Amino acid sequence: MKIKLNFWIDVAIFSIFLIAMEPGASGISIHEWLTTAAVAVLIVHFVLHWDWFMKLTSRFFVKLLHSSRLNYLLSIALFLGFITLIVSGFAISEKVIPALGIEMAGRGAWKRIHDLSANLTLLIIAVHIALRWDWLTAAFVKIFIAPFAKEKKIENPVLVEEDGI
Ligand code: HEM
Repeated sequence: MKIKLNFWIDVAIFSIFLIAMEPGASGISIHEWLTTAAVAVLIVHFVLHWDWFMKLTSRFFVKLLHSSRLNYLLSIALFLGFITLIVSGFAISEKVIPALGIEMAGRGAWKRIHDLSANLTLLIIAVHIALRWDWLTAAFVKIFIAPFAKEKKIENPVLVEEDGI
């Protein structure tokens, strides 16, 4: 159940991110309201991975070399990327923030920060997905292929391994 939920949340975040990268195509209203709503989805994603994060935090300083280290650092970078994106997005907002009756003083450097953090976050997402590729493909097989297979499938260890959550 958790695998399915995680999988669909990941798909939703990735799809929304791709739409958000092209505000010219979606229009600024969809861009702003969709990404504002996505904040809730992101929070669910963080909550579902909180145990994994805390486990790695405690291990980080104990064992100097383990395979999840890059994954861990990348998750922090991704978190900071999203925070920067959302804060700078609200700072340059033309729809959501004015709809709340708040007038922003001026955009200043926020537009460049928004643009830069969008491109950097996209890059981090690509590596994040590459590092989780085994989990993603195993979850895909479990959700879409295994239910139709005749033989009873043995659970893929990637899905039970906690680091792969
Ligand atoms: C996943 C989150 C987000 C991503 C990936 C993202 C990405 C982008 C990108 C790539 C641009 C085009 C920048 C350019 O043309 O130079 C842009 C523009 C913009 N974004 Fe976002 N954005 C996100 C969240 C937000 C949020 C939460 C808001 C405000 C509620 C927002 C408001 C804007 C505005 C107003 C522009 C137009 C800036 C301009 O051209 O003057 N964005 N965004």
